[in-house]
Amino acid sequence: MSEQMRTLRFHEYGEPAEVLRLEETPVPAPGRGRIRVVVHATGLAPADWALCRGLFAGTLPRGIGCDVSGTVDAVGEGVSGVAVGDAVFGTADWANSSSAGASERAVMNRWFPVPQGLSLVQAAALPMTVDTAYGHLNWLGLEAGKTVLVHGAGSTIGFAAVQIALLRGMRVIATAGETYAPQLRDFGALVTSYGDGMVERVAALSEGAVDYVLDTSPVGGAIPDLIRIAGGDPRRVLTIFDFDAAAELGARGSFGEDMANRVEALPEFARLAAEGRFRVPIAATFPLEEWRTAMQISQSGKARGKLLLLPGGDTTNA
Ligand SMILES: NC(=O)c1ccc[n+]([C@@H]2O[C@H](COP(=O)([O-])OP(=O)(O)OC[C@H]3O[C@@H](n4cnc5c(N)ncnc54)[C@H](OP(=O)(O)O)[C@@H]3O)[C@@H](O)[C@H]2O)c1
Repeated sequence: MSEQMRTLRFHEYGEPAEVLRLEETPVPAPGRGRIRVVVHATGLAPADWALCRGLFAGTLPRGIGCDVSGTVDAVGEGVSGVAVGDAVFGTADWANSSSAGASERAVMNRWFPVPQGLSLVQAAALPMTVDTAYGHLNWLGLEAGKTVLVHGAGSTIGFAAVQIALLRGMRVIATAGETYAPQLRDFGALVTSYGDGMVERVAALSEGAVDYVLDTSPVGGAIPDLIRIAGGDPRRVLTIFDFDAAAELGARGSFGEDMANRVEALPEFARLAAEGRFRVPIAATFPLEEWRTAMQISQSGKARGKLLLLPGGDTTNA
């Protein structure tokens, strides 16, 4: 009988709590250009619940957990520069496999060595966060000296975006709740709360024009205020979530951007994270079988940091 593993996946689209199942399945072989890892950690995010509900629909079953760190245990044809036993992090091949990162083993289609000084849990918190934050800032304009408002900077993507913009020499204003406001201020951002009166509070902080607005909030409804903050120009507002409102009001959304115009920033920010100069906060880690708890916290909209599953149950590198 082929070797088996536990994996969290769905066989039909629907609400994650109803369609996700933790089940036994054969360990997948890495195809051409892929590697397989023994998973140490996988990040869970609102994106996983969107996949369960049918985002980027494709062949089923499919797994969740797009971000992965682990130890290489098989290398596919045509792959060089990586060997069995290496510690890597990156992206699970979730769109082309019947399982993803929330598994004891995972096939990856993009990986980098884990830099010395970075734990495997910290490494697994980085890919989607850095990719999304960097990619969207780049689309808006990562220009030293310009002012950007990051709305929803208490989300992991917003928290990363603030640091990236500051490291690239931008002036950053952020809206966030109390959990991460002090750290965002320590990084060098001007921080205020989101909610009623936000436009006025941001105006008082900015003392001049806000050139760009990046909306990283997991809750929609702020686009009209964000357009006012951008001096009335909706094309200077880019949202990663509130797409219908953006389309209606002329603002920008992820899927209207030039996907080819992406920069690979992950290795640089992993290195900075290893040096303690960049961080994505970890809210909590869970063994694979406690995925429902992680899901409920994530879906509450109050994760306050990254939630990760540790399929091997090994917390020594947490
Ligand atoms: N388009 C893309 O390519 C892409 C990729 C990945 C994710 N996303 C989307 O990006 C969003 C953020 O993802 P994430 O993983 O970073 O989320 P997350 O960390 O789970 O976000 C949760 C945090 O958002 C903050 N928040 C809650 N309500 C808010 C509100 N009304 N206004 C502003 N902030 C609020 C809270 O922090 P505080 O209250 O403490 O500030 C909370 O801890 C999600 O909607 C996700 O689906 C898009």
